[in-house]
Amino acid sequence: MRTSIRIRLLAAFLAVAIFSAVGLSAYFLAELESYGMRKLEDRLLSEGLLLASTVAAQVDAGGDGSLSENQAETLADELTRIGQGIPSHIRILDADGVALVDSTLESGIGVRYAETPEVAAALAGQRSTATRLTEDGRMALTVAEPAVVDGRVVGVAYTSATTFSIRTLLRDYRLRLGAVVALFIVLVLILTEVLSRWLVNPLLDLARTAVSFADGDHSVRARPRGSSEIRALADAFNAMADEVQTVMVELKGEERRKSRFVSDVSHELRTPLTAIRGAAETLLDGDVPEDDARQFLSTIVRESERLSRLANDLLTLQRIEGATGELPISRVDLAEAARLAIEGLAPLTESRGVHVVLEGDAPPVLGDRDRLQQVLGNLIDNASRLTPESGTVTVSLAAEGRESIVRVLDEGPGIAEKDIPHVFDRFYRAQTSRDRSTGGAGLGLAIVAAIVRSHAGEVTASTRPEGGTAFTLRFPSIAARSQHH
Ligand SMILES: Nc1ncnc2c1ncn2[C@@H]1O[C@H](COP(=O)(O)OP(=O)(O)OP(=O)(O)O)[C@@H](O)[C@H]1O
Ligand SMILES: [Mg+2]
Repeated sequence: MRTSIRIRLLAAFLAVAIFSAVGLSAYFLAELESYGMRKLEDRLLSEGLLLASTVAAQVDAGGDGSLSENQAETLADELTRIGQGIPSHIRILDADGVALVDSTLESGIGVRYAETPEVAAALAGQRSTATRLTEDGRMALTVAEPAVVDGRVVGVAYTSATTFSIRTLLRDYRLRLGAVVALFIVLVLILTEVLSRWLVNPLLDLARTAVSFADGDHSVRARPRGSSEIRALADAFNAMADEVQTVMVELKGEERRKSRFVSDVSHELRTPLTAIRGAAETLLDGDVPEDDARQFLSTIVRESERLSRLANDLLTLQRIEGATGELPISRVDLAEAARLAIEGLAPLTESRGVHVVLEGDAPPVLGDRDRLQQVLGNLIDNASRLTPESGTVTVSLAAEGRESIVRVLDEGPGIAEKDIPHVFDRFYRAQTSRDRSTGGAGLGLAIVAAIVRSHAGEVTASTRPEGGTAFTLRFPSIAARSQHH
């Protein structure tokens, strides 16, 4: 991955660098050359014009219509004098195209140029320029300017100048271009290294993090660094890791709850089964006095009842917690439900010597009558069990705001602060009532909490200031609901 990114970057940068170096150089060179040529042409043109008008003036003054020997000599003298300062090669031709004056070559005098295209054009009265390559590889620009008197060509000012050597220039240029490209390559290598580090290292970091996460270390998180895209990737990874971690924690918790539940159930089953088995074995041995035999049989019955109650409670819990809203919903009068619950438990509470009192009233709620009755029954069962003989359990109804309130108050020992968060857990029994013969399996309040939750209600436990425990139920009243809509 690393080499791949680096090589791609390198290739891209090199391509850009070389193309731009070569392209720019070629462009500027061409521009420079054409500029130089234009300048040179301008100079030659003005020189030619000046010279041609001088020749024309001389011929005009001479009167015989052509340049005399004397005039040519004077011009030649002057040109040799001036010519040293001028880089151009200047020739003055007569009306036949034969050189009268040559600024650089003594032997040039008398040479005939009439066949040269630009000179031929000038002899015909037309100014003309030409570019040609000389034998030594130099570019030469020539200008032929006719000297005209009374519409007649009397001579030609023939100027030329070499441009810079193209070959030298090209060689020089290639060397420089090579140097520039080499410099570019070095720069590109450095840039590629820096860039690829900057790009690739955070990615490698991220990959390492992902690998350790996959290996089971769910606490690792990516460090967001590098480009914004890689930061976004790291953030996304972290969000995903958070999600996975949360789910894992939940799954583990769920797992633990399940296995604890199973061991709690087995534990609860063992006690009554042991008692039943012990009693049955004793009876099987035979030779048991009538009274004892009755005792053992009643133990078997009692423990079987306890087992079936446990099975019922577990089933109830399972139904409520696994329910998907198919509770039979109806309007429930809480006072009536409480009265029925009290009546149903009367044999039990009477046997415990406890009075149960119902007071107040509350607005009706929406829910399942049987289940709500079961809630009150469980609370009254607990309250009457913990209230001393001839004590009173009070079921009090009230309306608070938009809620219907039911309180079950007892005169028992109250409830320890540390137990309050746990009493609604399955199989939880507070230390004070560890005695299994009085208490049940510890499922009663778990059922209460599950039913109350499924009714969008709330249940809380607290110790009353005057002693004893208060369980408070809150449900949204029907009146409140209709006001809401
Ligand atoms: N009114 C109360 N006053 C004080 N403690 C209570 C009261 N009601 C319940 N508790 C405590 O909460 C624990 C759990 O109650 P819960 O009703 O769930 O179980 P249980 O009564 O022991 O058994 P089960 O209801 O399954 O027969 C009880 O063991 C008891 O310690
Ligand atoms: Mg109970």
